[in-house]
Amino acid sequence: MKLIIINGPNLNLLGTREPEVYGSLSFVEFMAELKEKYSTISIDYFQSNIEGELIDKLHEVGFDYDGIILNAAAYTHTSIGIGDAIKAIKTPVIEVHISNVYSREEFRHISYIAPNAKGVIIGLGLKGYELALQSFVL
Ligand code: DQA
Repeated sequence: MKLIIINGPNLNLLGTREPEVYGSLSFVEFMAELKEKYSTISIDYFQSNIEGELIDKLHEVGFDYDGIILNAAAYTHTSIGIGDAIKAIKTPVIEVHISNVYSREEFRHISYIAPNAKGVIIGLGLKGYELALQSFVL
């Protein structure tokens, strides 16, 4: 079982960025906990603030990984390119958002990821990544 978590722009600042919205745990700390808890599964991690790098990574992993857990962050609401990349690959993608985007600004209600995703987990904090992982594993 080979999974990857891909995070989009500004998620490198988790822990310090708007902690009232995104919590105070850094993703590095969270990944360490996740890897320890699910030590039999290979869980890779990639983060980029650059749209094309996210697309390149989807192409790279999208034919031999078992699952992709993707929080495309702000690109969720704007990127036809990332949506098309998900359509073009074979590995199923689960879209995750830490915050409940539907209780926030209207521009966050649009997703170019969701129509091409296997499933969507929204508003459950970092727990959403773990639930997405479990959905691939269990
Ligand atoms: C986010 C929600 C997006 O609207 C926002 O741009 C982010 C994070 C989330 O995880 O809640 O950067 O994807």
